[in-house]
Amino acid sequence: MSNIILTGDRPTGNLHLGHFIGSIKNRVKLQNEGNYDEMYVMIADAQGLTDNFDNPKKIREYVKEVAIDYLSAGIDPKKVNIFIQSEVSELTELTFYYMNLVTVSRLQRNPTVKSEIKQKDFNTSLPVGFMCYPISQAADITAFKANIIPVGDDQLPMIEQTNEIVRSFNRIYGDTLVEAKAILPEKEIQRRLPGLDGNNKMSKSLGNCIYLCDDSETVKKKVMSMYTDPNHIKIEDPGNIEGNMVFTYLDAFSTDELISKYSDFNTLNEMKEKYSSGGLGDVTIKKVLYNIIEEILTPIREKRKYYEDNIDEVYEILKQGTNKAKQKASQTLKEVKHAIMIDYFN
Ligand code: TRP
Repeated sequence: MSNIILTGDRPTGNLHLGHFIGSIKNRVKLQNEGNYDEMYVMIADAQGLTDNFDNPKKIREYVKEVAIDYLSAGIDPKKVNIFIQSEVSELTELTFYYMNLVTVSRLQRNPTVKSEIKQKDFNTSLPVGFMCYPISQAADITAFKANIIPVGDDQLPMIEQTNEIVRSFNRIYGDTLVEAKAILPEKEIQRRLPGLDGNNKMSKSLGNCIYLCDDSETVKKKVMSMYTDPNHIKIEDPGNIEGNMVFTYLDAFSTDELISKYSDFNTLNEMKEKYSSGGLGDVTIKKVLYNIIEEILTPIREKRKYYEDNIDEVYEILKQGTNKAKQKASQTLKEVKHAIMIDYFN
């Protein structure tokens, strides 16, 4: 069996550190290890429209922005097909046939969709399109026969839903589609990074993010205002690690090498012990975190500048990636239509 990697993001905002540690870092690692036959990264504009249908300008703008974020973060267009979802109309067609294989109550049980509905206040006016986006996501994955999906853990219900569709389809129409497996980051904390305020996950709509495109000053301000331990008033006071966002982020982003580079400690554990027993100030730990985040973001910012100045190159990359994606998806659609016996003129 071949290894086909596919993943994507909705273009509803710039990518932030939660995306980076939850998925982008893994994608770049997989891309560079080279242990795959095909790799696709999709800008999910059609899915973005399911809850932004009244704001097409925003989606169009962020298609460009997310493309720049990808390229700046190290996704290499020579190895990966970066493409725009809506340009691959085969995906919409597949979605329509998969809709027959999913019940309304099954969609209503999807925990990610459930919490999004609550967050968006869709309770009384839920668009059908939004409700169905897990089906369209199954089309995204199966159209490429993708079996490896690097994502954060909020996407697990989508993969589960996809595999249910694959099994139903293959049972009813014959073996055609391939099941997929999510690849999650190593550490638990990297799978769902909380926001700067310590509430919920890092999310644009909650305004608690550090973006890959934030400048140094902005990152500094955000780190300096992070939630620590409200009872840690004097430096000598013992401080709490639990629920302290600075340590949560250090857990997610630091290595012992980085800790010894930017602090007086050799390991994060040593630093935590000192903080717990008293004698380590919040400003000091925040500076360590700031430096570590800057080490990640500085090269990304430099590449961003190049792509912002060469926007035609970005669109050319998207165009080529989209052409490749379209070829593959149209092959799968042919097989699907054949299986459903709606290939009348062949
Ligand atoms: N649902 C993903 C998000 O919220 C985007 C997405 C669409 C996706 N289709 C996908 C992710 C297929 C992985 C595989 O960002």
